[in-house]
Amino acid sequence: MTVIAVGNQGGSAGKTTLVVNAAARLAQVTGRRVRVIDLDAQANASHWLGHPEPADGPTISDVLFHNAAIADADRAVAAVDGLTLVPARRAEMEGADVTLARVLGGEQRLRMALAADAATSGDPGITLIDCPGSLSTVTVAALVAADVAVTVFAPMEKEAGAVSAFESTVGQVAAAYNPTLRLASVVPSIVPGGSGRYYTDVLDQVREGWGDLVAPPVRRSVRVPEAYSAQLPLVVYAPAEPVTADLAAVVEHLLAAGVLGAPTR
Ligand SMILES: Nc1ncnc2c1ncn2[C@@H]1O[C@H](COP(=O)(O)OP(=O)(O)OP(=O)(O)O)[C@@H](O)[C@H]1O
Ligand SMILES: [Mg+2]
Repeated sequence: MTVIAVGNQGGSAGKTTLVVNAAARLAQVTGRRVRVIDLDAQANASHWLGHPEPADGPTISDVLFHNAAIADADRAVAAVDGLTLVPARRAEMEGADVTLARVLGGEQRLRMALAADAATSGDPGITLIDCPGSLSTVTVAALVAADVAVTVFAPMEKEAGAVSAFESTVGQVAAAYNPTLRLASVVPSIVPGGSGRYYTDVLDQVREGWGDLVAPPVRRSVRVPEAYSAQLPLVVYAPAEPVTADLAAVVEHLLAAGVLGAPTR
């Protein structure tokens, strides 16, 4: 099993957009089972993948707090073959960081649930975790469970600084809980078209700091909020759009960075 946690301690960086659309693309290109886990109380990934406020059945909070099996909370995503979702219900995930911090071993809960799932399921598959935009116990739980971490940033000076903050969190979680965890990719996101000098400079600075880890940029496009409203991943909603090609290039970058196994570079 490969577990990829997508995080950033700032909001609105493009995390959910990357998780949902990279997951759909990975299901298409690898033909493997791909699962999205929504760990954010905003439940944006759940909405996007067609399960806003699920009426019944277990969700991620039952996995974290009531020992529900991941497989019981996992639901098919109708739009994409092979893609599934462990959804979040907003009300249940509000305050989950505080509750999880109070539970003995709370930051290990997701890792244990994924390990139990891998032990019983035939196809280990690929799991992408959509983290909340804060350094909470929930984000730590995602990093404890992950093989690799990926971060996303919008190329403004403050947001680029968030890459260092996230890298430092990854290092701390690796030291405390998960020694093989590594930051595998830094994805520039929501990059304005015809990017002015300012954005190019910020991107250059990030490339100086993170070199090959920096993925090709994802352009700003109105197709992204449209696809969210349509509850369809971009590969289905707008397969021929430049932003969809950008996200496909990010997936290629992740594969080349060895997120699914042996690095190819
Ligand atoms: N490439 C893009 N082009 C245009 N809009 C985008 C793009 N990527 C993301 N957005 C928009 O920016 C906002 C934030 O994106 P997204 O929800 O993916 O970020 P996030 O990091 O998950 O935010 P949060 O911290 O709130 O969970 C959303 O309204 C989304 O539609
Ligand atoms: Mg989000």
